[in-house]
Amino acid sequence: MRKNIVAGNWKMNNSLQEGLDLAKDLQKTLKGKTLQCEVVICTPFIHLASILKEIDTIGLGAQNCADKVSGAYTGEVSAAMVASTGAQYVIIGHSERRAYYGETNAILKEKVLLALANDLTPIFCIGEVLPEREAGIQEQVVETQIRESLFDLSPADFGKIVLAYEPVWAIGTGKTATSEQAQEMHAFIRKTITGKYGKEIADNTSILYGGSANASNAKDLFSNPDVDGGLIGGASLGVDKFLPIIEAF
Ligand code: 13P
Repeated sequence: MRKNIVAGNWKMNNSLQEGLDLAKDLQKTLKGKTLQCEVVICTPFIHLASILKEIDTIGLGAQNCADKVSGAYTGEVSAAMVASTGAQYVIIGHSERRAYYGETNAILKEKVLLALANDLTPIFCIGEVLPEREAGIQEQVVETQIRESLFDLSPADFGKIVLAYEPVWAIGTGKTATSEQAQEMHAFIRKTITGKYGKEIADNTSILYGGSANASNAKDLFSNPDVDGGLIGGASLGVDKFLPIIEAF
């Protein structure tokens, strides 16, 4: 059955020392607790190798990887390099990558293939911008993102993907999707997967919600049958804010 996951996306925050302190503090706090979800932190590349030494029950991920295997791509970090640090996850297709770095569905498809080839679990982000929600085309937008980047995968490979629905209008704005809006979209996403890969794979796919999730709304969001956890930005940057979200399960 699918896993519940609460993943922190640190984005471009924390020096190496600050990141190490946060990871150690989180690991110490979680040690010995019985949790109903897997906890993952997705850090800047520079933190990965050092943080891995400080955590044991927490999963570790990058926030991006290159769409090329290796070679003369100055400034890029490949999926193989991410995997070589010991990280297990990689966020792919975050709306900030799509909007600020021109990452298209076709580019993201390459990144997913390279992540899978290196045994990384992609946390693949999808979601509509505000004008698309206002025009009532959010389902079409999300369906296209999934189809164009993921639906050429074999059933076995698709089964390794974690999805994160992040309505762009809810990211960093303090404006969360309502619990009903989240459930409605997550159910649509699961139905879309069922249509392509069948019910068993769809039922086994973890679909996380992201966008201004915090200690006060997490319980409500996670109580929905199709919401399997969260991808948490701002509220993952302090143990005091992140822990109540983890414990919302
Ligand atoms: P916030 O939780 O800060 O809104 O960010 C969500 C997000 O983009 C996680 O990837």
